[in-house]
Amino acid sequence: MNALIVYHSKTGHTRQAADDIARGLVSEGVEADVKAADGLSGKGALDGYDIVLFGTPTYGNRRYNLPAKPVDDLMKSLAPGGLEGKTVGAFTVFAGYGGGKLVTNMEGSLAGLGGKVVGGGPAVKAGAPLSLWKGPDAKPADTTACEEFGRKVARLAGI
Ligand SMILES: Cc1cc2nc3c(=O)[nH]c(=O)nc-3n(C[C@H](O)[C@H](O)[C@H](O)COP(=O)(O)O)c2cc1C
Repeated sequence: MNALIVYHSKTGHTRQAADDIARGLVSEGVEADVKAADGLSGKGALDGYDIVLFGTPTYGNRRYNLPAKPVDDLMKSLAPGGLEGKTVGAFTVFAGYGGGKLVTNMEGSLAGLGGKVVGGGPAVKAGAPLSLWKGPDAKPADTTACEEFGRKVARLAGI
């Protein structure tokens, strides 16, 4: 089974969360690629992947409805039905407010694209609000939650 974790990250926290989730997937025997969302577009970008996970910093876009633009652009390019037959999920890194809401909204959008959503994607607390500088790293419990999510996705995709 193959997984793609597609992410946007300015100061590195979301990239770190993507790597943490990838470790969980790999520990269950899944091959995981981690790629920046920039430049990925259309269903062809996801060819060959059984699992696709979308990660973004929380930027408060549209009151926590939308991920960062590169991820949003990719998701929009997948309509209609570009995630049919795939197991999918969402995760975010946020500094203070709105991460959980964003993940829930993204999960709804991914379902709308036909994906089989594994809910409860991680909302990791790290970084500094409104900052382009790297803030505090995620706590160990959040790192573990990311690994656990990767394992859960792998198990559910195998059913
Ligand atoms: C323009 C901008 C808007 C942000 N808005 C929010 C926000 O609404 N809520 C929040 O908790 N963090 C917000 N943040 C903080 C980021 O979510 C946080 O720093 C995150 O760790 C950045 O991820 P990255 O290291 O992958 O770029 C914002 C950061 C920037 C630069």
